Amino acid sequence: MTILERYAAMDYGPAPESRTEADAWLNAHDFSKALFIGGTWQAAASGKTFTVLEPATGETLAEVSEAGPEDVNAAVRAARRALPAWSKTSGYERARILYAIGRAMQRHGRLFAVLESIDNGKPIRESRDIDVPLAVRHFIHHAGWAQTLEKAYPGHQPVGVCGQIIPWNFPLLMLAWKIAPALAAGCTVVLKPAEFTPLTSILFAEICARAGVPKGVVNIVQGGGETGAAIVEHPDIDKIAFTGSSEVGKIIRRATAGTGKKLSLELGGKSAFMVFEDADLDSAVEGLVDGIWFNQGQVCCAGSRLLVQESVAERMLAKVKARMGHLRLGDPLDKNTDIGPLIAPVQLERVKSMVAEGARQGAECWQPASDLPQTGYYHLPTLATSVAPSNILAQEEVFGPVLAAMTFRTQEEGVALANNTRYGLAASVWSENISRALHVAPQLKAGVVWINGTNIFDASSGFGGYRESGFGREGGHEGLYEYLKRPAGKAVYKPAPRPEPQPDTGSNTPLIDRTPKLFIGGKQVRPDGNYALPVTDPKGRIMGEVGAGNRKDIRDAVSTARASKWHQATAYNRAQVLYFLAENLAVRAAEFTGRIASLTGIRPKEAAAEVDLSIERIFAAASLADKYEGRVHQPPARVVTLALNEPVGVLGIVSPDDAPLLALVTMMAPALAMGNPVVAVPSARFPLVATDLYQVIETSDLPAGSVNIVTGDSVELAAVLAKHDDVDALWCVGETQLCATVERESAANLKRVWTSGGLAPDWAGDAALLDDFFRRAVEIKNVWVPYGD
Ligand code: NAI
Ligand code: MG
Repeated sequence: MTILERYAAMDYGPAPESRTEADAWLNAHDFSKALFIGGTWQAAASGKTFTVLEPATGETLAEVSEAGPEDVNAAVRAARRALPAWSKTSGYERARILYAIGRAMQRHGRLFAVLESIDNGKPIRESRDIDVPLAVRHFIHHAGWAQTLEKAYPGHQPVGVCGQIIPWNFPLLMLAWKIAPALAAGCTVVLKPAEFTPLTSILFAEICARAGVPKGVVNIVQGGGETGAAIVEHPDIDKIAFTGSSEVGKIIRRATAGTGKKLSLELGGKSAFMVFEDADLDSAVEGLVDGIWFNQGQVCCAGSRLLVQESVAERMLAKVKARMGHLRLGDPLDKNTDIGPLIAPVQLERVKSMVAEGARQGAECWQPASDLPQTGYYHLPTLATSVAPSNILAQEEVFGPVLAAMTFRTQEEGVALANNTRYGLAASVWSENISRALHVAPQLKAGVVWINGTNIFDASSGFGGYRESGFGREGGHEGLYEYLKRPAGKAVYKPAPRPEPQPDTGSNTPLIDRTPKLFIGGKQVRPDGNYALPVTDPKGRIMGEVGAGNRKDIRDAVSTARASKWHQATAYNRAQVLYFLAENLAVRAAEFTGRIASLTGIRPKEAAAEVDLSIERIFAAASLADKYEGRVHQPPARVVTLALNEPVGVLGIVSPDDAPLLALVTMMAPALAMGNPVVAVPSARFPLVATDLYQVIETSDLPAGSVNIVTGDSVELAAVLAKHDDVDALWCVGETQLCATVERESAANLKRVWTSGGLAPDWAGDAALLDDFFRRAVEIKNVWVPYGD
């Protein structure tokens, strides 16, 4: 083509990034020894390898050693051996090493970017300008956390050996998100990259050795799902961090249940990209290109649902189509490429079949008339319109360059549509009216909300989802907690003994004052089954009866909790209500003291101390209700990030027998303080304490449905709560077996579960328990607000 012809066509010439250095690196390596264990390079014990393909050509890039259980075992042993010294290395020393890693990655930035684009297929502009700089930023940011750890997280220790499993869509960046906070916290790691994209992790391991990371602190094992499962199931791992599909996330939730492993899951999404009629449509279109066609749509937080206000829908969609026609598909190493190939044939087939199914279900699928490259796993950018809310393209994560467009009329309808998903990872809100956007953001069930922007990330600001998008946050202050623990006592939880109820001789009848009902929706209600259970003192004398709640009662309680408006009360209002509750409990302190003493058999003085401390805890929760606030981050861009503490939602509490009042209020008060409606299952042995408490609640201005109390067989009721899909979080203190069941049964909707793991918290002695429950009572939403023009 002559210069004149090119000028006439107004087309781009090729602008390839050189792959010479990357090819030399590839040629210099023997990938059959690509397991980095205890600071040495090893082949798999089995000698097995797997093939890695180049998505743009389909050609083989490497045959990589595949770690089996033996290799995973060796890696975990190496990590365990390295842990004591590393966790005792000073924060300053760890900071220097993290910083050195970041700097070394920067120095090799070009090689990292090219390798990443070759291995994953992502356009070089993205790997060069986004993946690599953000990964570097993560290490340098976390160097700071390492040094300031003791001050910022008093009373916390590293959680231990971490198993980390990452996906193929951002291989180096996800590695950084996992390894940087773990090392900052003083943990050691066994990381498994995805089987499609092992290359940059190998380069990273080489850098670790040079940056002074002690042997065994970072171990990297290559392999697929089986290797991942071997990590998940390894008994000597303290924490699992996973990013990937919701399907595997649920498998991991079940597999780790009852093991005491700490768990964080960053899973899929179906994020809404909301465009209001007062948006700058041209900016919104550019945002959308980034939102859904960034990394070919293989992004967990991709804005895959375009929700556009009806009045501007036609204009917006016309602009989108015009823009789609200009997206350039091609060589990932070409600096002008917008869209590269998908990761693998299996992913291409998956995306194609989902588009076909979406069309079969009534969507109109449109693609620009662009040419597909001759080789590679390319898929044209696709716009689906006439998408019904139940269409597969509106419900399921496609993980490809496919956008499903829908319209809404009012803001309210838009919010409802946005929240009509089981996911909750991210959302974008486009409006030139910032007060509207800031009004909408808190109503969206998503962990990240970008106002007039999309796919902006920074190490300072936590990332993670609500609902089935997983739990836990990566990055920022909150992300560090995933790699820390507070040393817990070792006391094993034992339910209080249950003496045989003494036959009713007539002499103890006066002790039976009444049969309290359940407390649901602000009313005392008879249990559905109409059964009552006797409650005895330690000698077996019958002190009363309580309702035996069942599945139906829990369902009723959950639906009234769901309908309660407690989360809308202002923090000041919640504080006042809790102060009032504490006051009203204080008025009846003597009565509660007597009740606890006679039921449990402890001395009145001890019972009085429990009541006093309970009142104090409610007071403390009241005082924090309007002070346990979010943060503001200032990432290196023209944007502020508002990290808002939001209530998690309907919260189940299964309370123990020991300290029956204190334990219940230590959990319930923080839950309420942060705006969570509660369904409490009190101590099965001493439920009369809780039924007395609801009489106090009735006089304390807590709105109907904000607290519900269902007495009965707490083991049975806990399992019902764990399975219930409309319960957002569950805290359970109980025996090992119960805690394991609850964790396993929670997998269906991935509710946030905390259990005592069969241990008995020190309710009176451990003052920091309240802080722990405050942290568990909130879900942190990061709202990104750009400024400037
Ligand atoms: P995947 O969830 O199976 O893979 C993610 C990682 O988990 C990989 O390292 C894999 O080796 C590992 N893994 C797989 N099975 C495992 C198991 N049983 N135990 C432990 N680790 C296991 O995702 P895959 O198969 O690569 O992609 C399938 C679909 O999942 C995609 O089409 C996409 O919809 C979704 N996905 C979502 C991601 C996200 O970040 N939201 C990331 C990757 C996939
Ligand atoms: Mg899979």
